[in-house]
Formats: sequence, structure tokens, C-alpha cells
Amino acid sequence: MALDRRPEDMVRITTPELAQAFIDEQIEIVRKQVGDKKVLLALSGGVDSSVVAALLIKAIGKQLVCVHVNHGLLRKGEPEQVIEVFRNQMDANLIYVDAVDRFLDKLAGVEDPEEKRMIIGNEFIEVFTEEARKLDGIEFLAQGTIWPDILESEEGIKAHHNAGGLPEDMNFALVEPVRILFKDEVRVVGDQLGLPHEMNYRQPFPGPGLGVRCPGAITRDRLEAVRESDAILREEFAKNGLEGKVWQYFTVVPDFKSTGIKDGKRAFEWSCIVRAINTTDVMTCTVENVPYELMCHITDRITHEVPGINRVLYDFTPKPTGTVEFE
Ligand code: XMP
Repeated sequence: MALDRRPEDMVRITTPELAQAFIDEQIEIVRKQVGDKKVLLALSGGVDSSVVAALLIKAIGKQLVCVHVNHGLLRKGEPEQVIEVFRNQMDANLIYVDAVDRFLDKLAGVEDPEEKRMIIGNEFIEVFTEEARKLDGIEFLAQGTIWPDILESEEGIKAHHNAGGLPEDMNFALVEPVRILFKDEVRVVGDQLGLPHEMNYRQPFPGPGLGVRCPGAITRDRLEAVRESDAILREEFAKNGLEGKVWQYFTVVPDFKSTGIKDGKRAFEWSCIVRAINTTDVMTCTVENVPYELMCHITDRITHEVPGINRVLYDFTPKPTGTVEFE
């Protein structure tokens, strides 16, 4: 039987042996629950959904149908990595939905942050529902719910993302194999399941993705500038030993231009803001002291390699008064 709640005396999963025992137990539970029926999973490529996918592929193979929706707001290389890891390496039943134009067309001209979030959330449910309706025989919905999600929704801190978003006639039974695990345990299980390190240990990434890092109305060129500058920042942090040490780091490109010079000519272009923060509970955060030389190097790369950027600024603001994200 799947457990609804984490037993008080449950041993923290910290070793490959404990992870393997958990995996073996969950495989049995899932096989009993699901039988020969099909299970649907929205696979974003984030840690929780990726670990659930890898576990269910072991348990029920092609009975699991993964749907990866590319909404155009993912980081550089993410959709490609989902396809490589799950379709090519793990031989999963993976449906890749290119919904980039759909999302960006809906978001065009929308400036209000909350409206942007709502559009992204609703459109996601719509695309996912459309894909689900095309499939026959789905009876279960898998989710990457983890134990802190349950605790936080019980404490009224945040609404837990669950099947509540789907239309009423799609009342799938839930499969939540990592429901009683803390995040660090999910990662130990992910290691044991053979997920790539960069997938299993990635920094937190908001559901609305790069959309909240492109403040104001999203345009394709500015979104590309966010994506490319983020890729450079991540590459440089990894090369310089900051990956895994700094909690979260990213770039933001607001809709604001200033005068600069490129190749001896006037360049009226955007500024790219770098944010790098540390926290334990995300309720408050402090700003990482990034070495000056590294910041100069990152600035040089971003201003020379990313079209449309002529300045790089560093955000020194802790939370509060700032939030982590800009929107
Ligand atoms: P804020 O900006 O609220 O961010 O200080 C706190 C943490 O939450 C992440 N974040 C989100 N995560 N959906 C998510 O799954 C969201 O809509 C969302 N908004 C912010 C943010 O990246 C940070 O780690």
C-alpha cells in the first residue's frame, strides 16, 4: 500500500542502499496499484518529475506516458535533455509537445506579472489536457509531489499543485511515488536511478520559467537574450566552482534600453541583471559575494556574445526587500 503520510520514525534516505530499498518497495507498490493500466505524467525535466519518471519507467515501462510541454520559457538545452535522457537513454514513452508559438502568442503584449503567470498556468493545463484526451486507456496521473509540498499546503503557505487543475471529467487516480520524501532524499533516489547529475541537482526553477525573468511584455528577442545570458552565467559558475555552492543564480533582462558603444558605433540596447542568492528556506535570502574578476569576465562574455545586451548589472538586494524573482 502506498503511504499517504511520512512515518514519524522513517529513516532519512542518505545512502545508495537505502535508496535502492525505497525504489524496490515503490516498484512493488506501483505495479500493484496500476496493474496493466496506463499512467500519464507531465514531465517538465525538473528534479521531482524526472525522478518520478525514472522510477515509473523501472516499474511499468511503456505503460507510463510522459508528456513534455515545451512552452518556450525553458532554459537553454532543457527540452533537448529531456528527450535525450528519457526517450533515447531510458526508452520511455515520451510525447514531446512544441507549444512555443502557442504560449508566446498568448503572452504577446501582456505586461502584468500576475496575468502572465495565469496565462502560462492555464495554457499549460490546456495543452496537457488536449494531449491527455488524445490518449486511450489512461487511468492514472503521476505527480512529483514531495513531503514539503504536503506540509506547506497543510500550513496554508502555498497551494499544492495537483490534479485540481484538470477538467472535472478527467478524474484520474493519483500515483505519487516520492510523496513521503524530502528533497535531499529525492536526489539520492535520482542518483540511484541513474539520472544525470545536472538534472538531479539543478537549482530551483519557477514554473513560469524564463517568463518571470523577462519583466513586462515578453518578446522573442528579449527572451532569447535571457536564455543566452543565463546559459553563460551557468557555464561560468560551473567552471569556477560556484555550481552547487550558490543556491540560485540567473539573469533578468528588463524592457529598458540605454546608450552604449559597440564596434565604435552607438548601441542602444538592453541591460542584463545578474542575480545570485543564498538561502535555506527561501523566505529570506542573502546575496552571493561573486569574485570581482569573475563578474568582469561574465560581463565581457554576455555583452559580446548575447545580441541586444550592452551592459551587465549586479543585483545586491537581499530578500526582503526584493523577492528572489523579479515578477
Ligand atoms: P520568490 O520570488 O517568491 O521566490 O522570492 C522564491 C523561490 O520560489 C521560486 N518561484 C517559483 N517556483 N513556481 C515555482 O515552482 C512559481 O511560480 C515560482 N515563483 C518563484 C523562485 O525561483 C525561488 O526559488
